[in-house]
Amino acid sequence: MFRSLRIHPEAASTIAGRVDAIYFFALIVSVLATIGIAAMVIYLTVRYRRRAADEVGKPVHGAPLLEIAWSAIPFVVMLVCFGWGAKVFFAASRPPEQAVEYFVVGKQWMWKFQHPDGKREINDLHVPLGVPIKFTMTSEDVIHSLFFPAFRVKSDVLPGRYTTVWFEATKPGTYHIFCAEYCGAEHSKMIGRVIVMEPSDYQTWLAGGGASQTAAARGEELFTAYACISCHRTDSRARAPILAGLFGKPVKLAQGGAVVADEKYLRESILNPAAKVVAGYQPVMPTFQGQMGEEDLLQIIAYIKTLKPAAGGTTTGDVKP
Ligand code: CUA
Repeated sequence: MFRSLRIHPEAASTIAGRVDAIYFFALIVSVLATIGIAAMVIYLTVRYRRRAADEVGKPVHGAPLLEIAWSAIPFVVMLVCFGWGAKVFFAASRPPEQAVEYFVVGKQWMWKFQHPDGKREINDLHVPLGVPIKFTMTSEDVIHSLFFPAFRVKSDVLPGRYTTVWFEATKPGTYHIFCAEYCGAEHSKMIGRVIVMEPSDYQTWLAGGGASQTAAARGEELFTAYACISCHRTDSRARAPILAGLFGKPVKLAQGGAVVADEKYLRESILNPAAKVVAGYQPVMPTFQGQMGEEDLLQIIAYIKTLKPAAGGTTTGDVKP
């Protein structure tokens, strides 16, 4: 009968055990403190009860040892919670270098996933076991939140911004996906399943169900379809910055200062090109706001990331260290 009644979700990622450890530590500290305080309340109530109708208690003036104890002990306990919590938080929020990138687009009311090889899924997500997976996420409408209870990770998915979350699954199986941010009438139906498979099974699964295009390959097509290529060409330095080798590099701006060309910067430069113009260029690029969907944006950015600098060439606007 109690089989289906799970209070604690299964732990199926590398970070899950660490999150649980700190959770149980906080729980045990809270329970001990509650029991201790309740016991003292009961004991002191009885011990110092009024024995005569006109009895008045003796005033207490200063008890340094007691005061130090009740300040220092909670302080140390809280510091442990903070230090430990921060450590786990940083581990959970920083994907490892070798993490494989997946894309997520949240939408009222569904989750759209895209695998590194380009394969797409809605609400179902197949992932390989033992591989760190990083999700680059955005929303087409309102704020959602992608939550994998079994992996103990959750991150808000915001319109107009990229957020990330990562995990490495440790146990094959099927686990819940929830939207953890109220996002409208069918928020409660914005759920899915994550299916963790042995890497070989995952490869077989990927191979089945029709060939697909990688995100970068699709991005390359879109790059031509949206006519980006007519200005961003290796032979047209005067009109638009060269994109080869740009990703992850600092870019000097016309208004002074520099930014790192990350996903956020590329996205902004496509939707609102005038916001941060590269030094040495005119703000001639048209905006693609309202013309390019979030999924197309992700593909184009994936394509730009793959562009390697031409041999011997330098990136436009590159800041020499
Ligand atoms: Cu999306 Cu709740």
